[in-house]
Amino acid sequence: MTLKERLTQLRDEINYHRYRYYVLNAPVISDAEFDRLYQELVDLETAHPELITPDSPTQRAGAEPLDAFEKVTHPAPILSLANTFDVAGLYAWRKRIARYLPDPEMALDYVAEPKFDGLTAVLTYRDGRFTLGATRGNGEVGENVTQNLRTIPSLPLKIPVDPASDRPSPPYLVVRGEVFIPLDKFEELNARRLEEEKPLYMNPRNAAAGSLRQLDPQITAQRPLSLFVYDLIVWDGVDIPDTQWERIQLLRQWGFPVSPDVRYCPTLEDVARAYEEWIEKRNRINYEVDGLVVKINNQPLAASLGFAGKDPRGALALKFPAQEKTTKLRDVQVNVGRTGVLAPTAVLEPIELSGVIVRHATLHNYDEIARKDIRIGDSVTVKRAGDVIPYVIGPIPDLRDGSERVIEPPTHCPFCGEPVIHPPGEVAIYCDNPACPEQLTRRVEYFVSRPAMDIDGFGAKTAALLVEIGLIHDVADIYYLDREKLLALEGFQEKKVDNLLHGIEASKERPPHRFLIGLGIRYVGSVVAPLLIQEFGGIDELAAATQAQLEEIEGIGPNTAVAITTWFSLPRNRELLEKFRRAGLCFKAEITARETADTLAGLTFVITGTLPGMTRPEARAFIEQHGGKVTNSVSKKTNYLLAGEKAGSKLSKAKALGVPILALADLQKMVRP
Ligand code: IVH
Repeated sequence: MTLKERLTQLRDEINYHRYRYYVLNAPVISDAEFDRLYQELVDLETAHPELITPDSPTQRAGAEPLDAFEKVTHPAPILSLANTFDVAGLYAWRKRIARYLPDPEMALDYVAEPKFDGLTAVLTYRDGRFTLGATRGNGEVGENVTQNLRTIPSLPLKIPVDPASDRPSPPYLVVRGEVFIPLDKFEELNARRLEEEKPLYMNPRNAAAGSLRQLDPQITAQRPLSLFVYDLIVWDGVDIPDTQWERIQLLRQWGFPVSPDVRYCPTLEDVARAYEEWIEKRNRINYEVDGLVVKINNQPLAASLGFAGKDPRGALALKFPAQEKTTKLRDVQVNVGRTGVLAPTAVLEPIELSGVIVRHATLHNYDEIARKDIRIGDSVTVKRAGDVIPYVIGPIPDLRDGSERVIEPPTHCPFCGEPVIHPPGEVAIYCDNPACPEQLTRRVEYFVSRPAMDIDGFGAKTAALLVEIGLIHDVADIYYLDREKLLALEGFQEKKVDNLLHGIEASKERPPHRFLIGLGIRYVGSVVAPLLIQEFGGIDELAAATQAQLEEIEGIGPNTAVAITTWFSLPRNRELLEKFRRAGLCFKAEITARETADTLAGLTFVITGTLPGMTRPEARAFIEQHGGKVTNSVSKKTNYLLAGEKAGSKLSKAKALGVPILALADLQKMVRP
């Protein structure tokens, strides 16, 4: 086999395994095997850069940043659809189109597809290769966002994706799909942005839009974009079936990501049934769907029906009942969080939003209120999406009658009366009083909650009561509650008190990362806390860490590092820790048998070249078995480069960065001295 042939083979295989992983959710090789293929490709391409092709999986985010997006004219208009909002509208549509059919009474069958709430992407393939990707724009002219679309892992760079497929690639093909961010990934993205102190995205659609319009594809590559393809726009030199149902299957056979939720509906009644089912299940789906798209299955027939205005008659958007409604903003309540943030919350005239009565919604922060000019008494639009907390989108100024009141940010904490602070560069306003009873209640609630100490029988009501009557003055007081005093409280019978005290006692055994979460240090939640304990071994060691030491840890940025050192530097927090220690909480991680064998724990390796008597995947497994980590590229965070014969660019990079270089024998000595 020539080098070129091997490269093609590797690219096809890697593209295929990515497809198995990202599109089918059914990988057929292990991550380690995949990494081995990928590494071989990277090594060959590094040695022969002249042989790199644009459809190589290494090139997904390879393009240089742009100055601006080019305009592209679509090969055919990218249409939108007429909307309807209920089943009656569906039957009305069938009636409306009757007179355009060859026989008004004829039986029709349909395909019902989710209407993905994302952004349209128009994808061009020439000789099976992805050559152009554009936004919808005005339907005739869009923007060339090819380099960003390439970063979406499920987008095929080459079709058919499966080299064994009996569907050959067409010479020319343009398809349409929707780019979106799955809901779980959206939450993660916002959590990360919170950590980085960047403004949060309002909803997944905005986040997807912002990500697709980045001039630097490296940034887009870090955003969790996903894609579903659902339509063929134009093609040449290939036979395309007449029905939408078969076209969907064809798209799937080529290897495009197609939603598993597309349904064939023999009659309109089946469409109506699918719609009812969707209304019930839509909030359990991991992406936002705002309705169904109903398509006449016979596509040439659908096209023959022509247009009503700009909308094709052959399809219909059957929207779900609004998760967005208008109501009155009665008042703004201030909530105080455990970090002291004063969060404005909308008190609404109650409305029903897809089955749930909504009385409160978040207003984000006071900057946002001012920017949108939201006033008390305004008619406001409120939205609920998935399980996300409802939020106020904005006011409808046209409905004002002059009685509305501007919302002023509080100058004093409404709970403790202390003046608020507004740190420069931050949007949030804080109550800075550590003794603020409301803040303390929030901190206690958080400390006892599931991700932290998970104290059975200790709920929000108990927290509020114990703070209010003065049995708790700081969070550590939880461990100094007096049984007799509790028994004297209304509704606290013996059984309840014993359960509570038993739950508190049991929580002393929680591992230190849970205790650390409970301390409520900014940015130190269930992701960061275990990382810190793993790194330092205990709370005291963490308390002694410097900012520089913290920042060396992968996953810890400067903001988090500062938050940690600041927290531990405050005398009142030191005193609190001592109080916890006296109560007998667990400060140090237990060393388990496995961990003692983890001689490489905390060390990051990169492997390169041919090792004597061991393949790279075996070397990787060996390192991982001893607690080390293996990554693909050399950086300042790499502890060692494990190098064999014929090591290439990684070796020179490691030398340049001063990363120590090990032979296999050195590594073996590290593990068994
Ligand atoms: S078909 C004429 N199918 O919803 C064909 N559109 O107005 C029109 N959309 O902007 C498109 N999911 O971006 C179709 N399964 C789906 C869709 C879908 C989402 C979007 C599309 C369009 C809007 C319809």
